[in-house]
Amino acid sequence: MTTPTPAAGSVALITGGTGGFGRALATKLRALDVTPVLADLDSERNRQVAADLGCPFVVLDVTDRAANEAVVAQVEAEHGRLDAAYLNAGISAAKSDDALDMDEFMRVVQIDLFGVVYGAEAARPAIKRAGGGAIVVTASLAGLSPMAGDPGYSVAKGGAIAFARSMAPRLQREGITISAICPGFADTAIIDRIRDQFTAANFPVLTAEEVADAMVMAWTSAEPGAAYVIQPGVGTVPYRFKGVPSAKTASGETAVVPEALRPPSMR
Ligand SMILES: NC(=O)c1ccc[n+]([C@@H]2O[C@H](COP(=O)([O-])OP(=O)(O)OC[C@H]3O[C@@H](n4cnc5c(N)ncnc54)[C@H](O)[C@@H]3O)[C@@H](O)[C@H]2O)c1
Repeated sequence: MTTPTPAAGSVALITGGTGGFGRALATKLRALDVTPVLADLDSERNRQVAADLGCPFVVLDVTDRAANEAVVAQVEAEHGRLDAAYLNAGISAAKSDDALDMDEFMRVVQIDLFGVVYGAEAARPAIKRAGGGAIVVTASLAGLSPMAGDPGYSVAKGGAIAFARSMAPRLQREGITISAICPGFADTAIIDRIRDQFTAANFPVLTAEEVADAMVMAWTSAEPGAAYVIQPGVGTVPYRFKGVPSAKTASGETAVVPEALRPPSMR
């Protein structure tokens, strides 16, 4: 079965857009006549990457809430619409000591979790104005399976998956499908520090292109709130959450969550 493609003429914002996944995704989207706007930290290198790909570049630090809103306004002003937001910017901790470096922990969570929350809230009204679309969060396998060497990363990615799952019903009501992708290790700059170890152990890593294919699929075909695992030799598969036991009433029946605790879209 072939994956449906985004409509030609659509506009997508990619945070962390000049990194490994961002570049691979931008290349694929351009080939589909989509305009990918690359949002990233301000540097000559990042501007040059975007120019080389033939993509517009916007400066964005995803931890700046107001800047997320300003960038979305800029995209709408310059390109007329926003159909998809790829909330993909991310970092991991630089070291994996037993002592937890709280400053680094907070920095990872600020970028990898709050960057996603700010980005989603900024993009939401614009995508709704465009008649609906998608928000795709780049989480990680580390959000589903604990990463002992980088607890902040697991917290942030696990939180990003929980955010996508819990936001899905209200966004669906606005015609927006939010989903998360959860790649295993992939060959981008983020694994520069540990690439030698993968090579030495003959451990397979994903290519950025494999991940970018999943990112395109998530735009057009994701189930709302789904988390897609991507692993070498396995491909892209939806993660099946096991669920939790429901509360039981005194007479042993499954208790129903009070209406007031559900979003309006679920009442
Ligand atoms: N490569 C992997 O093994 C792997 C696996 C699972 C998930 N991920 C996730 O994929 C995403 C993309 O990473 P990548 O593999 O392309 O690595 P990368 O390092 O090539 O790209 C990350 C990008 O995010 C940008 N960025 C960092 N902080 C930012 C900030 N505050 N504001 C805006 N942009 C910022 C960087 O400048 C860079 O361009 C990240 O969220 C990462 O955690 C990567």
